[in-house]
Amino acid sequence: MSESQTTFIMVKPDGVKRQLVDEIIRRFESIGLTLIGRRDITPSLELAETHYGIHKERPFFSEVVDFITSGQVVAMAWKGENAISEARKLIGATNWEEAEPGTIRADFARSIEENVIHGSDGEDTALFELELWFPDGLEI
Ligand code: CMP
Repeated sequence: MSESQTTFIMVKPDGVKRQLVDEIIRRFESIGLTLIGRRDITPSLELAETHYGIHKERPFFSEVVDFITSGQVVAMAWKGENAISEARKLIGATNWEEAEPGTIRADFARSIEENVIHGSDGEDTALFELELWFPDGLEI
């Protein structure tokens, strides 16, 4: 079933430093999604900890928070048919070594932490993340 959705996508500091943002945007446009929000920011500790709150008890929590607060990220809202699952397909598996060839992570990630990009993993997560990163609202 096809459904219009909006998903939250973040190019992480490694992707920004390596100037991958334009290429990543091109790939999202090529699957027919529309960019409806963008913020280029260095996340605060509070924002990063809230974003990754679900992983609070995991051993990598402090590392992943340190990593995404280490520089500028590009937070984006992408809208379109089945945007959440279509974006996840384009991004590839969290573990870059398991990512399908041609996905963003297979092409660019260098480790499980430096995996270039984050994408919401479901509808509830997308709503939570969009509200967190776009507190002034979006036309979703
Ligand atoms: P992301 O999709 O942003 O969600 C959680 C992040 O934690 C993940 O991508 C990885 O960048 C990072 N991470 C670091 N170590 C691990 C791990 N062992 N398992 C899962 N995610 C990890």
